[in-house]
Amino acid sequence: MTSPISLVRDDLRAFAGYSSARRAGVTGSVWLNANESSWCNPADGGLGANRYPDPQPAALRERLATVYGVRAEQVLVGRGSDEAIDLLVRALCEPRRDSVVVSPPVFGMYAVSARLQGAPLVEVPLVDDASGFRSDLSAVGDAALNTGAKLVFVCSPANPTGQAVAPADILALARRLEGRCLVVVDEAYGEYCDQPSLAPHIDQQPNLAVLQTLSKAHALAAARIGCLLAAPELIAVLRNCQAPYPLPSPCVQLALAGLSEPALAQTRSRVITVRAERERLHHELLDNAGVRRVYPSQGNFLLVRFHDAEAAFQTLLAAGVVVRDMRASPQLGDALRISIGSPAENDQVIQALATGRAAA
Ligand SMILES: Cc1ncc(COP(=O)(O)O)c(C=O)c1O
Repeated sequence: MTSPISLVRDDLRAFAGYSSARRAGVTGSVWLNANESSWCNPADGGLGANRYPDPQPAALRERLATVYGVRAEQVLVGRGSDEAIDLLVRALCEPRRDSVVVSPPVFGMYAVSARLQGAPLVEVPLVDDASGFRSDLSAVGDAALNTGAKLVFVCSPANPTGQAVAPADILALARRLEGRCLVVVDEAYGEYCDQPSLAPHIDQQPNLAVLQTLSKAHALAAARIGCLLAAPELIAVLRNCQAPYPLPSPCVQLALAGLSEPALAQTRSRVITVRAERERLHHELLDNAGVRRVYPSQGNFLLVRFHDAEAAFQTLLAAGVVVRDMRASPQLGDALRISIGSPAENDQVIQALATGRAAA
């Protein structure tokens, strides 16, 4: 097995990063090493926010590891999975040399991070056929090898197109690219998906990594907690590239509470509701004469093509319903992406579009 360390930029492999006060590895009872205040703010409420937080709180790493079925040393916690995407691009891609492969139309942050790093972006478009959008992983593999890519992002379930990629196909891609390129599976919407996570495979496949987030099914978008699951040696390098104190203590507490067993039980029940609503909305939309196509979705959203997307967008807005306009994305010139809301919110979408159609 080739260590993923070989994929890290030469100049960062041994980089120690910033030696923050919380990483000094010392203990004591009188803390005078970080120029903090010894007193709590009057609004503190028992949080102890006068002290810098642990950069990677052990309790949260352990809990995330349990939830995702990996070991704590395979978890890097960050400010949303957005931060993990950015860290990966910065740590692996030498500017103007090492490329990043994506399959548009897809979540935009991979391209943003590549652009900020000066890493060439290689696009292998999704294929739109009778069954929906699908990735051409053989073309993705060719593109990665031909361009000397360091990173391939596979979004599954994919935002905004909704399809999931078969785990066996992703594993085959990772095997093909072993020693050359890291395959990152973004499972931001994994909880809504029929297919299992790739997380248990990172042990056997060192160039495979998985992104997870608490922003979607776990309903903690404001806490900004996401994570990368990957080989421990890669996690260790990325920690050294991360900001000194990336995780605010109130957010860590919220995340721990939000991952308690009772909270997880409620999350699972909400996922069941969203999946049922996804089917209901899908069928209701198909009944609307203004709708050209609704794509099958494994996420908590539907991608919908309209005969007149501008009219549909404005009709929804006039009813107070804000959806995502996808028309600037490649292949999506007539499409809107509608998140699955509560049953009452979804009713509003259906009613607004039915009324708009009647008025047209
Ligand atoms: C596919 C995908 N990955 C990652 C993210 C970022 O999530 P986070 O809130 O964890 O930064 C999103 C957010 O919309 C997403 O759609």
